[in-house]
Amino acid sequence: MSLPPFPPPPPAPSPALQAELTEFVKGISALCGIDFTRYQRSALLRRLMPRLDLEATGTLTALLAKARADRDCLTRLQGDMTLHVTSMFRDATFFKLVRHQIDLLATYPSPRLWVAGCSSGEELYSYRILLREAGLDKRCRVYATDLSATVLARAQQGLIEPYQLSDHEQAYHEAGGQGNLLDYCQLHDGQLRFHPSLIEDVVFSVHNLLTDGSFNEFQFISCRNVTMYFDEIGQEQAHRLLHQSLTPLGHLGLGIGESLRHSPHRADYRQLGRGEPLFQRIR
Ligand SMILES: C[S@@+](CC[C@H](N)C(=O)[O-])C[C@H]1O[C@@H](n2cnc3c(N)ncnc32)[C@H](O)[C@@H]1O
Repeated sequence: MSLPPFPPPPPAPSPALQAELTEFVKGISALCGIDFTRYQRSALLRRLMPRLDLEATGTLTALLAKARADRDCLTRLQGDMTLHVTSMFRDATFFKLVRHQIDLLATYPSPRLWVAGCSSGEELYSYRILLREAGLDKRCRVYATDLSATVLARAQQGLIEPYQLSDHEQAYHEAGGQGNLLDYCQLHDGQLRFHPSLIEDVVFSVHNLLTDGSFNEFQFISCRNVTMYFDEIGQEQAHRLLHQSLTPLGHLGLGIGESLRHSPHRADYRQLGRGEPLFQRIR
């Protein structure tokens, strides 16, 4: 007997818990100045439940009260609500396909690539390495944005923890890299980091995909593993913005678990490669 492709969804939370979560989300949004109302409720709950024990509060209402009084607790909650997990060349087959498509950027006089929701930068450095290997790093202007200023600062530092290096190297080779990843790194004050030349022209900025507008037109947008945390209306809003920011014939990269299902413009894209979430805008 074959297994179902996905585990069954968890049971829906009780109406009382849903009401408590609504109040919690409103309260945290007001405290952080970030609107979390369009984030998927089930995913939020899953991530917040362990926090009830960790903060010894027991209920979301008590957790909100603690966050009001304790700035560090609020920062921890914000981290839970906007997951920052990332890695270099995440999903190697996706990046292999990107490696073949990225040459198309050479056909534009001033190509621009946007890494939206770039977290601590591993995705950004992956693209910068692909651009350098395609001889396009000097020509292509790259923009890296995220909701969180903290992770953007980490991305700008480009630090590599020694324990991550072998995973980074393996992912680089699996994604078709022929060189040596260490050639893109340097030791500085005893710490390993990506070579600063990889990001010298990158524009870093805080940007919220749900509340901020389009700020440029891009030939390539990578927005991976971000919209999956939004509810249907949130995904629709974010996809409207991505479509508005992508030039016709431009490329849009999503995460493996993401799709254009809730994009009002899904008919304007064609998927490239078998099953990989890389799309080209065809009109
Ligand atoms: C799971 S990480 C994905 C990082 C990277 N794109 C990748 O695929 O490895 C999600 C990132 O999206 C950011 N994010 C969450 N909500 C966002 C929003 N409304 N606008 C922009 N970025 C957001 C988070 O701060 C986090 O850094």
